[in-house]
Amino acid sequence: MRVLLFGATGMVGQGVLRECLLDPEVESVVALSRSPTGQRHLKLQELLHQDFLDFSPIEDQLSGFDACFFCLGVSSAGMSEQDYQRVIYGFTLAAARVLAQLNPDMTFIYVSGTGTDSTERGRSMWARVKGKTENELLRLPFHAAYMFRPGLIVPLHGIQSKTRLYRVFYVLLAPLLPLLARFPKYVTTTEQIGLAMLKVSKQGWPKRVLETADINAVGRLHLV
Ligand SMILES: NC(=O)c1ccc[n+]([C@@H]2O[C@H](COP(=O)([O-])OP(=O)(O)OC[C@H]3O[C@@H](n4cnc5c(N)ncnc54)[C@H](OP(=O)(O)O)[C@@H]3O)[C@@H](O)[C@H]2O)c1
Repeated sequence: MRVLLFGATGMVGQGVLRECLLDPEVESVVALSRSPTGQRHLKLQELLHQDFLDFSPIEDQLSGFDACFFCLGVSSAGMSEQDYQRVIYGFTLAAARVLAQLNPDMTFIYVSGTGTDSTERGRSMWARVKGKTENELLRLPFHAAYMFRPGLIVPLHGIQSKTRLYRVFYVLLAPLLPLLARFPKYVTTTEQIGLAMLKVSKQGWPKRVLETADINAVGRLHLV
């Protein structure tokens, strides 16, 4: 299995990368990002690119993949709708349209978030933009596309969020992890997301949109 990974330098993407590198069925992972992951592994290849609205300069390197795990994203805090939409909708669809054309057998998995608004009409700006992004992805001619909507994500195996505030939050949360394991409807982990992506892309899944409970149900819940 050949995997293309977006957001490999982020918290979710690092978790997904870890599980991909550990999975014997994954033959190679190409991490497409604007900055290096800082990791070295025989299965890992980095593809550095700066303009995520235009993939034409690297199009010749974007075919032959079985799965794409799209973990690139930003927080909407302090962003205008236009700027947020440019990254969330613009970057994702620019990549997905090219990939669907070049990889008709690809399974595409997108990380959105709990509360995403499929109607695209609600009051929450981020939820509307993610809803629009999901809806458009589900219309593309991939072999299959799945939307992952995690709630609270606990980073495992030394993975850290890039946002300082979140890092402090996770340090404070650490003693509560055994308790949080009792709430698989709301809480998942970076490991669980990675495992679930791999399983769904290999075996398929009856639902196209997976909430936190579904992500945890795909594999086993493993919080600590
Ligand atoms: N963290 C959570 O608890 C949580 C919960 C639910 C949903 N999610 C969703 O999961 C996704 C990933 O979240 P995360 O926590 O992993 O975020 P993160 O740690 O901030 O990582 C974001 C990733 O996106 C990349 N990225 C951001 N802006 C970019 C740009 N302008 N151009 C190119 N790459 C860019 C970053 O690359 P650089 O390293 O180059 O900046 C990084 O790889 C987001 O869509 C988020 O909404 C997260």
